[in-house]
Amino acid sequence: MSLPCRALVLFGATGDLARRMLWPSLYALHKENLLPGAMQLVGAARHAVTQGEFIERVREAVRTSANAALYDDATFAAFASRIRYAAVGIGETRGLESLRAALPSGPGGVIYYFSTGPDLFGPIALGLRAANLVDEHSRAVVEKPIGHDAASAEAVNDALGSAFAENRIFRIDHYLGKEAVQNLIALRFGNAIFEPLWNSTAIDHVQITVAETVGIEGRWGYYDRAGALRDMVQSHVLQLLCLVAMEPPAAFTPSAVRNEKVKVLWSLRPITGEHVNRNTVRGQYAGGYIDGKGVPGYLEEEGAHSESGTESFVAIRAEVDNWRWSGVPFYLRTGKRMKQRTSEIVIQFKPAPFNIFAGIGQGLDANALLIRLQPNETITLSLMHKKPGLNQMQLGEVALNLSPGGAFGTDRRRIAYERMLLDVLRDNPALFVRRDEIEASWRWIDGIVEGWRVAGHAVRPYSAGSWGPSEAAALTERHGHHWHE
Ligand code: BG6
Repeated sequence: MSLPCRALVLFGATGDLARRMLWPSLYALHKENLLPGAMQLVGAARHAVTQGEFIERVREAVRTSANAALYDDATFAAFASRIRYAAVGIGETRGLESLRAALPSGPGGVIYYFSTGPDLFGPIALGLRAANLVDEHSRAVVEKPIGHDAASAEAVNDALGSAFAENRIFRIDHYLGKEAVQNLIALRFGNAIFEPLWNSTAIDHVQITVAETVGIEGRWGYYDRAGALRDMVQSHVLQLLCLVAMEPPAAFTPSAVRNEKVKVLWSLRPITGEHVNRNTVRGQYAGGYIDGKGVPGYLEEEGAHSESGTESFVAIRAEVDNWRWSGVPFYLRTGKRMKQRTSEIVIQFKPAPFNIFAGIGQGLDANALLIRLQPNETITLSLMHKKPGLNQMQLGEVALNLSPGGAFGTDRRRIAYERMLLDVLRDNPALFVRRDEIEASWRWIDGIVEGWRVAGHAVRPYSAGSWGPSEAAALTERHGHHWHE
């Protein structure tokens, strides 16, 4: 049984993620009495900011966040009394002394949240170890990306591992904190009716789309080195694929769930060499219109250099080589500046084996299960129904709503990080990514990157506000499939 935590240290405390997600999430947990009573929150960053200035920044972050409605002065004052600021110098001798001074003494572990640029993950871990700030109760929470390929991910994991035991490391993929993603686990393994159909006998193909309308949001420095494949596919998209494709775990325990996810990653057919041309499409947005508003192209973004061949869109036809999924394509697609913000998984079932209505001119659409994560969380199953009235037998497709709606009472829409932070406090890593998962997913991604390099695979332009380059449509249409749009 682990002791309650005495402090949470947030490295990167003045950064974008901390401002938009982490402070507002911590505030919400505080307001709901979910933080241990005595727990202190230590913001650590390199800026020289006074305690008062820092508190005002946190206040502003909460008031302008998705949790703004939860703000009130009295609750914030109590929340602020937990907060300390420490200016730290990562990689400097005695650069963590101010942190030591800011940490409360007493029993209980310290959670170190690494919300900095990925280059600092290793140095922070090594610095904490050298400064003797880690013990067996400490936990590390690490943001993505861990590395930019398998070798660099291993190096980061080694550095983390030299300071923290693997079961003390919580690697965040915030998609796993989304309610609809957890509902996918409930849907698959809390109901008997789907499992007999959840395989290549009944399923024709699967689509996973994560489309964003935003551009790179001032992150040229990071994004241009990463691109959509590393930024989104290696993490969020492959995690969704794992949850769709994994075998039933022995129990809902961290090891059992993660054992099944990593097996899916091991079963992904490598896309290498000349296979990249047939199975992947890379795109880069040009200027265009989103919701009627003109937006610049990728190469016109702030800080851009005009020669960049980085992809802001990628589409992949993947296959999972195992007994359950052999022959079932998994179409994956993600992009920035697309027509709509939408994240969804489509399980497209095979058509009915025979159409008894063909003689009266009635076609049948194959059933599809649609699990939408964003912008709203819904689950629908499309079924053929008879249209009402005296028609002979006219059928139409109707989407049956399987979403829980208000069935369990309504909870406010939460920031995914609230759930993730609470799971760290509860010491439950089930929804965090294990070292072997990270490294297996990078190995698959590395094959594609290398294939692109060897093939000189060019990025295709697409207009901002579209669904990506036309080659992405061809990727599915070659096999008689269409993206769900
Ligand atoms: C992050 C990526 O991990 O996820 C961003 O680095 C992306 O590029 C973001 O915009 C998307 O998250 P969400 O929750 O808004 O879909």
